[in-house]
Amino acid sequence: MPDACVHDTPDTPQAPPCTLVVFGAGGDLTKRLLMPALYNLAGGGLLADGFSVLGVDHNPLTDQGWRDDLSATMESFTKDTSAEFHAKSIEPKAWDFVRDRLHVTQGDFTDEATYRALAGRLKGNVVFYLAVAARFFGPVVEGLGRAGLLKEAEGAFRRVIIEKPFGSDLESARALNKTILAQAEESQFYRIDHFMGKETVQSLLAIRFANRMLEPIWRHEHIDHVEITAAETIGVEERGRFYEPTGALRDMVPNHLFQLLCMAAMEPPDSFDAEDVRGEKSKLVQAIRPMTPENAVRGQYRAGKEGGSDVAAYRDESNVDEASHTETYVALKLEIGNERWAGVPFYLRTGKRLAGRRTEIAVQFKPPSFPLFQGKDAPKLDANVMRLRIDPEPGSATRLNVKRPGPQMHLAAIETGFRYGDFFDPAPTVGYETLLYDCMRGDTTLFQRADTIEAAWAAVDPLLKAWKDAPVAPYAAGSEGPKAADDLLARDGRAWLPLGDA
Ligand code: BG6
Repeated sequence: MPDACVHDTPDTPQAPPCTLVVFGAGGDLTKRLLMPALYNLAGGGLLADGFSVLGVDHNPLTDQGWRDDLSATMESFTKDTSAEFHAKSIEPKAWDFVRDRLHVTQGDFTDEATYRALAGRLKGNVVFYLAVAARFFGPVVEGLGRAGLLKEAEGAFRRVIIEKPFGSDLESARALNKTILAQAEESQFYRIDHFMGKETVQSLLAIRFANRMLEPIWRHEHIDHVEITAAETIGVEERGRFYEPTGALRDMVPNHLFQLLCMAAMEPPDSFDAEDVRGEKSKLVQAIRPMTPENAVRGQYRAGKEGGSDVAAYRDESNVDEASHTETYVALKLEIGNERWAGVPFYLRTGKRLAGRRTEIAVQFKPPSFPLFQGKDAPKLDANVMRLRIDPEPGSATRLNVKRPGPQMHLAAIETGFRYGDFFDPAPTVGYETLLYDCMRGDTTLFQRADTIEAAWAAVDPLLKAWKDAPVAPYAAGSEGPKAADDLLARDGRAWLPLGDA
């Protein structure tokens, strides 16, 4: 491992003791992500002895039954290489630490008695985790507030983590903010976006602002355009019921893609204090020009091939309407109305059942300002492109022009880059470790603030309205997406980087 430039990280302090109350204890998120994240935190010695979990679920569960069930699930991950959390074996010390601290109680999220019972049971620091369907976000926070569970008395904190989707349009996001902010302070709410838990997404700020050779050229004078991609090869899987009224725009754009956009385009914050960082992110999102249907494409996958096997059309997936107009693909051209990005288009695309799995930001630079390599015998110049890769193989790749060996000045484009895995030990994280840890420590940096969420919905709202009954452009499963998305860039004399050559 080329570790010459790897610096030691200073000792990370333990999170203060607290009770993590998980609403939706029996749910999928708790099993797949929260428990592995707690296990990893325990393994790193980051949870205090006084840490405990209290699960709340509408189904009857016992402490022992829940512990056994979760132990079996953790064990099953060792055999499932496709699970978000996959480890060769489960380290007993770390898992026992978590398992022995698991308790569960039955409760209806809409019944005041549930919250009265919790109030009788909870003392000191508490993080409430809302791993429940979005329709319960408001009622649970109201229940907590009415029972006095959000009052931060005697130096003890009371915090609430809210999953996505936070609203389904501007109006509903505003209404939800209003509901929850009537019960507690903004600083007590941690609106989660799991993309911000990805180590390499957080690293984007380091890459941009810790490298003098990048920061000065990260602007319109030097950058031609920016491409942000979150492409998946999987289909809608068993989530048809959720996905049908949601679609790719709501599912991915105002949250995940805008988080990537912020990381790529925000101004440097004055410090890494949460409010400095969140303030810059908010300004960036507010500077996104309202989107128009002329600059957007929606598509839906038809039958095709993925990994050599036949796969079904979206309309044939379970719990999907056979005449569905829900988009499984979106491509957008955005403009950011500020000085740094004047005239630089940002092209965003996301979709399911595409030719490759790839989450990345690709920054394409302008040609050299002095036309030294022009004229009739001039070699072709490829644009410099810096690709900041998040998934599946985190790292970066930059295309540079070099001289081809030989007597003449002929150029060749080469790629230079790095993979995180070559420099750092890839800890098996699920992305929720840092988010949970930060919440317990009261660090809101990676969480979404009310104003940013509303600004994001405000930017996509015109499209949501325009697309209400709009048709979807078909694309074959396993392809690069609909042709209309290629046309969107071709119009500007540009083309997407292919997905197939990851
Ligand atoms: C989720 C979306 O928030 O993010 C899913 O609801 C999507 O539809 C997923 O598949 C993508 O996340 P990741 O981390 O797998 O890229």
